[in-house]
Amino acid sequence: MLDWEHIFATRSTRMRASEIRELLKLLEQPDIISFAGGIPDPALFPHEAFQEAYASIFSGPQVNAALQYSVSEGYKPLREWLVGEMAKIGIECGVDNVFITSGSQQALDYLGKLFISPNDTALVTWPTYLGALQAFNAYEPTYDQLSLNGNRTPEGYREAAAKAGGAVKFAYLSPDFANPTGETVDRAAREKLLDLADELDIAVIEDGAYQNLRYDGEPVPPVLALDIARKGGIENTRTIYGGSFSKTLAPGLRVGFVVAAMPVIRKLVLMKQAADLHSSTINQMAVATVAQTIFPEQVAKIKKAYSARRDAMLAALAKYMPAGASWTKPEGGMFVWVRLPEGMDGAELLAHSIQTEKVAFVPGRAFYADGSNNNTLRLSFSCANEAMIEEGIQRLGRLIGQAVAEAA
Ligand SMILES: Cc1ncc(COP(=O)(O)O)c(C=O)c1O
Repeated sequence: MLDWEHIFATRSTRMRASEIRELLKLLEQPDIISFAGGIPDPALFPHEAFQEAYASIFSGPQVNAALQYSVSEGYKPLREWLVGEMAKIGIECGVDNVFITSGSQQALDYLGKLFISPNDTALVTWPTYLGALQAFNAYEPTYDQLSLNGNRTPEGYREAAAKAGGAVKFAYLSPDFANPTGETVDRAAREKLLDLADELDIAVIEDGAYQNLRYDGEPVPPVLALDIARKGGIENTRTIYGGSFSKTLAPGLRVGFVVAAMPVIRKLVLMKQAADLHSSTINQMAVATVAQTIFPEQVAKIKKAYSARRDAMLAALAKYMPAGASWTKPEGGMFVWVRLPEGMDGAELLAHSIQTEKVAFVPGRAFYADGSNNNTLRLSFSCANEAMIEEGIQRLGRLIGQAVAEAA
């Protein structure tokens, strides 16, 4: 076999299958209760609405446009609909500020490509979305911890970035019901983040993938909305908002979007022309049709289902977790984050759990840019019913209880 390593670019060395992904392959066994995948429940997809949307596209005058190449910015009626949705959450923008991507994951790749030269610093929360680290890694960044409690100074960030051989370019965060923690960043911390970004003169990448999935509590304005309020209009802002239809409608269509000031959008359009020309025309049309007709009902339906599962998971954790374990109480999204006593190892626990208790989760260290915090776990409640959640958490509590007792 050819030795490819010296032919591959240096950036490819940062692209590795994680041991955790390997472990998760074991999940294909049918008798496992899985809290591992952070994916939407397919039973909640709007099947009929999509069936009707595709049927009407195929039988109507738009069929050729739907099957033809189209513009890189995205399908205009979908972008116009998004302008209205954004206004509802305080993001006043024009249609030219909205850019359609192939899932919000593509936006993360493009933003990595746009901002990071090798050794530049990306500020990310500790932990952060694993897919963001994977997207940015290809551009050879250094990561530094984005502190949301204000205990790091701009000078400190600047010095660390210079030592690493570059400059701080952006702060990335998912402020609503984050993957993996389920936590929400409060308004004061969002304002502080904007202060920091202004001082460092960097971009803020706001990942709104779960923004629609609030089950209780008061909505917090998006960072971009706060930035617009400060600066008097989107063109003066430094925040780039990434959104997705994956969690609300269906991820298989691969339709996401970016909302930002025009200089950023123009660059993203050029990147898209080079990368894939445009996102699937027909899927954008179908998403536009479905969004225009049933979006509020669909969001209400999934919120009802997921909030019941969240409640079941929190109740089961309170009932079955041993002393020494703590967990987040998310107001939305798909995840609960569990912290075990120091010294415990989530990856070891997973191997054990799959064998003995047949329960799966994701060990938390994969979500840390420095691979630390072995004693954490991500549990997703999106795809299990309430009875499975109770049973799975009971088994997990038993396993963790034994591990804690052995370690004592
Ligand atoms: C925080 C976050 N951002 C982005 C994505 C990517 O989603 P998509 O590309 O399907 O829009 C995900 C998917 O799980 C996610 O959890």
